Amino acid sequence: MLDTDLLHAVDVAILRRRGLVERLLREGTDCFRVFHGVAEGAPGLAIDRYGPLLLIQTWRAPLSHDDAETLSAHVQQALGLPLHCVANHRIGPGKFGAHMPTEAALQEHVCKEGGLSFLVQARHRGQDPWLYLDLRQGRAAVRNLAKNRAVLNLFAYTCGVGVTAAAHGALESINVDFAQTALAVGQNNAEKNNIRGARFSTVASDCIPILRQLAGKPVLRRGREFRFVKFAPRPFDLVFLDPPRWAKGPFGAVDVARDYASLFKPCVLTLAEGGIVIATNHVPEVSATDFASQLRRIAEKAGRPLKELDLLPVDEDFPAFDGSPPLKVAVCRV
Ligand SMILES: C[S@@+](CC[C@H](N)C(=O)[O-])C[C@H]1O[C@@H](n2cnc3c(N)ncnc32)[C@H](O)[C@@H]1O
Repeated sequence: MLDTDLLHAVDVAILRRRGLVERLLREGTDCFRVFHGVAEGAPGLAIDRYGPLLLIQTWRAPLSHDDAETLSAHVQQALGLPLHCVANHRIGPGKFGAHMPTEAALQEHVCKEGGLSFLVQARHRGQDPWLYLDLRQGRAAVRNLAKNRAVLNLFAYTCGVGVTAAAHGALESINVDFAQTALAVGQNNAEKNNIRGARFSTVASDCIPILRQLAGKPVLRRGREFRFVKFAPRPFDLVFLDPPRWAKGPFGAVDVARDYASLFKPCVLTLAEGGIVIATNHVPEVSATDFASQLRRIAEKAGRPLKELDLLPVDEDFPAFDGSPPLKVAVCRV
């Protein structure tokens, strides 16, 4: 049985988002976080709307089929929208948990952001949804900055950033990720938005050798069998750097908390004069102020001091009532 306190917390969250949802609809956006449990009274639960799909995710207690359906019906009524529903449990055995969605709910759907179309499928090979909603402000910045720029999108996943750049006039949008399946979704996202030809491309590669080549450094690897894509250092106008918190591979580790320099330095080095790096940090323990000073220090040491650094605001569907949102997005101009 679902707790009435939970349903009440969901109602409060929906009321709190009224202004945001109206603004998003005006911007041609129909995807947003309906309930951010970690900050709104139910840690381990998140509810997202992606166009026609309601995606419920749990990380602690899984929902029974009936509870998922009850929660979904409650949200649909509060939003005044009929939606397909899928509830996924993200932890432990029994992939996805007890909810048995309809066939229609499990199909690929399209959601909209800023008038662009993005594919979503609630259950796929990976676990994360195909569009990260908390990065909305990052993509909005790209919408404003991409025109006539050469864009490099690192850790691209399903290319939300790269598609946004190409759709907003980027001269080229190069998207790098080692997950070929995610890049394939990115290619489909590009096609959905009528982006064709060489100005949008994907590179299936570990980002570490790409970053080292951009910095003019030799690529180190654990064994010769690990091949890497050759990437000549060249200028980019806009680099989007959105690494996971930690990941280990044959070319070394991505470690955002301990070694942001090895990621950020090559990005500033590759920038054309007046170019921009949009850099993210998902580590909750790193404050926005510390992240900003770290970026300034790294750029200074690399000989490309930052002329401007703006931290992007976080939208109200990812509230952090302690004032410290886990995701920091910094727009850095050299
Ligand atoms: C936080 S997601 C990035 C989200 C993405 N920027 C977006 O806009 O949706 C992290 C991505 O990094 C990729 N990844 C992790 N380590 C990597 C590495 N060393 N080289 C290339 N890709 C990597 C994962 O496959 C995943 O797609």
